[in-house]
Amino acid sequence: MAHDHSANKPKRILSGVKPTGKAHIGNYLGAMRNHVNMQQDHENFIFIADLHSLTTVKNKAELQELIIDLALDYLALGLNPERAVFFRQSDIPEHAELTWVLSCLTPMPMLELAHAYKDAVAKANREINVGLFTYPILMAVDILIYKPDIVPVGKDQKQHVEIARDLAGKFNRIYGDVFKLPVPYIPEEVAVVIGTDGQKMSKSYGNTIEIFASDKALKKQVMGIVTDSTPVEAPKDPDTIYKLYSYFATEDEKKTLLERYQAGGMGYGDAKKLLLEKIIETFKPFREERERLRNDLAYVKDVLKKGAEKAREVAAATKNEVWEKTGLSI
Ligand code: ADP
Ligand code: TRP
Repeated sequence: MAHDHSANKPKRILSGVKPTGKAHIGNYLGAMRNHVNMQQDHENFIFIADLHSLTTVKNKAELQELIIDLALDYLALGLNPERAVFFRQSDIPEHAELTWVLSCLTPMPMLELAHAYKDAVAKANREINVGLFTYPILMAVDILIYKPDIVPVGKDQKQHVEIARDLAGKFNRIYGDVFKLPVPYIPEEVAVVIGTDGQKMSKSYGNTIEIFASDKALKKQVMGIVTDSTPVEAPKDPDTIYKLYSYFATEDEKKTLLERYQAGGMGYGDAKKLLLEKIIETFKPFREERERLRNDLAYVKDVLKKGAEKAREVAAATKNEVWEKTGLSI
């Protein structure tokens, strides 16, 4: 349902992605593509979560490049600054300010149970900083400050949206209604996109297929998909290659690959070639657009600046309400 018919007003969506590395098929299908597609019949707020990147990225030039890269990615994929408010989190000081207020309502155990934090502790190959621990509070503010109806994200972010809802409810109960309780939007077929090793595709697992990589790099990634040792002649079950192919192929193309798998005689090498062609064909126009935009960084920076101005109006209004309710405005 795209519209709130009672008010006949488009629903507001909000989402963001951290600039922490090269965008991959999981990010694209699980998040970015939905953000772009939803802009037609929703009111969109899409942002670059650069404050979140500081939990892991500690190099100035690297962070700057990651931010610009992500802006280029979104614009190349079709994000339209006329339809979406596209901005950088760090341009809006209210995010950090409200994070303090919500921190004072957040019980420690709520954060201790968060998956992202537990995973970080379990891996613990690096220092665990307080930012990583309080990350869900900043994310809750990212969402709540814009009062969206819907937050489209991959499944791994569901818990964070639930924390945002809990904190919104708690604030409203204690101080009076300010925040809207948003719902996550997680399309089932792309909730968890698998990577080249068969587990969830993620930058941190090194199992990604990058959407803007060169043909050569893409070939390396696709050829690196882990397969079993079923011989060429033998029938095959639908596997990682088939699943990835399914995201981009038509029903007929999927059926053909499945039949060739079942008949035997189709090697995984051939299936990988088919997948590679499909990926190159799908992303070619986006890659070309990205190259074009790369030569016009002044435009990209201007888009973010104008987006920040619009976002700030909304964020500042919510902050005023919070200051009003809590007693910080006298
Ligand atoms: P990564 O795990 O590679 O670091 P991020 O955490 O930056 O990815 O995720 C950015 C967005 O992409 C989030 O909304 C996340 O839910 C979505 N996403 C990431 N990986 C996948 C995946 N494998 N399947 C579906 N969605 C994903
Ligand atoms: N935590 C999200 C991720 O890892 C990024 C993010 C930050 C976000 N704030 C958000 C997503 C608010 C949706 C809404 O991808």
